[in-house]
Amino acid sequence: MTERFYVTTPIYYINDVPHLGSAYTTIAADVLCRYQRLRGREARFLTGTDEHGLKIQRAAEERGTSPQALADEMSVKFREAWPLLGCAPDDFIRTSEARHARGVQALWRKIHAAGDIYLGHYQGLYCVGCEAYYTEKELDAGGLCPIHGTPAEAVEEESYFFRLSRYAERLLAFYDHNPSFVVPPSRMNEVRSFVRGGLQDLSISRTTFRWGVEVPDDPRHVMYVWFDALSNYHTALQEPEDNRRFWPASVHLVGKDILRFHAVYWPAFLMAAGFPDEALPRQVLAHGFLTYGGRKMSKSLRNTISPVALASALSPSVGVDALRYCLLRSVSFGQDGDFSVEDLLQRYASDLGNTLGNLVSRALPFTERVGERGTLGPLEEAMNAQLRESARAAAEAFDAHAPTRALEAIWAGLAAANHYVDRATPWVAKKQDPARLDTIVATLVEALDAFSVMIAPVMPQVATAMRAQLGLGPLRSEVGRDQWPFEPPRRAPGGELRRGKPIFPRLDDGQRALVLKAFAPPEESDGAAPAAAGAPAQAPAREVKPLVDYATFAKMELRVGTVVSAERIKRKDRLLSLRVDVGEPEPRSLVAGIGQDYSPPELVGRRIVVLCNLEPRQFAKGLDSHGMLLAAEDGGKVRLLGVDGEVAPGAAVR
Ligand code: MSP
Repeated sequence: MTERFYVTTPIYYINDVPHLGSAYTTIAADVLCRYQRLRGREARFLTGTDEHGLKIQRAAEERGTSPQALADEMSVKFREAWPLLGCAPDDFIRTSEARHARGVQALWRKIHAAGDIYLGHYQGLYCVGCEAYYTEKELDAGGLCPIHGTPAEAVEEESYFFRLSRYAERLLAFYDHNPSFVVPPSRMNEVRSFVRGGLQDLSISRTTFRWGVEVPDDPRHVMYVWFDALSNYHTALQEPEDNRRFWPASVHLVGKDILRFHAVYWPAFLMAAGFPDEALPRQVLAHGFLTYGGRKMSKSLRNTISPVALASALSPSVGVDALRYCLLRSVSFGQDGDFSVEDLLQRYASDLGNTLGNLVSRALPFTERVGERGTLGPLEEAMNAQLRESARAAAEAFDAHAPTRALEAIWAGLAAANHYVDRATPWVAKKQDPARLDTIVATLVEALDAFSVMIAPVMPQVATAMRAQLGLGPLRSEVGRDQWPFEPPRRAPGGELRRGKPIFPRLDDGQRALVLKAFAPPEESDGAAPAAAGAPAQAPAREVKPLVDYATFAKMELRVGTVVSAERIKRKDRLLSLRVDVGEPEPRSLVAGIGQDYSPPELVGRRIVVLCNLEPRQFAKGLDSHGMLLAAEDGGKVRLLGVDGEVAPGAAVR
């Protein structure tokens, strides 16, 4: 039996929503997994959310909610986004799950038992945005984090340490024996020189906040979020069912910003926990950043795009597949690259419409059934030779986790197939030589069958649509059955062909203009500076939620309320305590995170909209909220929803 395949994405922080940058990694993982399945391998794909740490605890405090409630709300956005982008992870792990805590604590105990965790005192600098420790040398001028541009915070506290310093030699030997442990090779060199530069022991616990996995036998400490997060790749295989047969991971896909954690700390943790070299992850693939309008996409720069919204604006039927194709084709996987909507539209029209879609439309109009293949002539032989070469080169590229190269190889084959149609002139054969027409159509049908398999990892829906026109069922992978078309698959004569509508409907100028306008990158205000927080976001990461039926909506009790009193809550800048008349004998107490945008006096007497049947939530001892007021948020600013005209408190809102 061939080796199993196990691919992972980083688990995403939940202070953001899924955007094109995170979609890029998740789609790539999905593509590699689908490819391996077509090759007959048993494959597994894991993604999830990274929910602990000071960053999330602070974000929750600012929003006046608990970290768990924030995590529950945000994690689901990731879980729901991936299937909408054609991704089918086998598991979605959340670091706040009990199964994860059990797994990480077991790992901690093993390392502790091996003598590689000790209690000490930490004094140093920490960037909360990165959840990472920095030395002064590593920071930019003024003590600013090189990634976030914000000041690193001084931390001084009791901490458990991991004896990372003990592992430099073994790591270097491991890299020597496994030179493709990190790809691309330039990144392997970076990692090597970092380790050669000497490794300090690593602080792996914190005592100044609570939102994390408790350290076994010392509940004063929670684990450092990266110790907790990296372990997800292994804990997810342990429960609910035992999937440890997939270990070690075949490839961890990561952005270049988090390479050190995966290529140095993670293997060192595993070594300390007793994993032999053969049981360490096979590869860490560091891809570059996807930029948009020239800058890395990130929430703080307000230049993220919702991939789901973009795909559906492009085409409800094939937009997702087109976006998957374009992301992997345009930006060479491993390099930085700029994403542009112009490029997406261009590739949609040319690579997809004119090259792939057109080949299907050109091959199928002549007959309704596949005829006798007969004897192939030199044109057919030449085209098939290119087809075999495409299949070989694409497989080699996918095996090397290089989807961009695989697509280039497939498109070279498609170009040759279109060239074949030009030269074989089936429209002439139709009039003059029916036997020859049968040969041409059979050759093209077999080639299209092969292409439908080759594109399936990247464009699963298009593959199915193409196969339907060829009279073939959808592809079904099966462990042990290699379906890769190294040889063009043979098609028996008589098989039905079902020519349908063009697979990639043409977009007219108006449609193109609409997509361009809706997803134009935000203008830069002054060269390098990020768009100001209040600038209009032209391409917001609009969140697309699943449809709900009316009965679900009607369960919400929304009422008009009049604010009776409002006051600030001590030491919580954002929180206000309100009493609101919602037509009941007593006003309701509400806590609202609007303190930065409203002062108490301007609220009293205002008519607002309140969700009255939301579960009460305790913000602090004696500080409960019995409902929630509704507000719009734009660019970090909050504006309350009001009611037009005189409406009595308690009036229903529907
Ligand atoms: N939670 C950590 C990862 C823990 S893995 C054990 C984290 N999360 S993140 O949400 O900030 O980033 C997740 C991944 O998304 C990283 O690999 C990061 O490089 C990637 N990307 C974020 N923005 C991106 C782009 N604009 N382009 C490409 N990848 C991007 O780090």
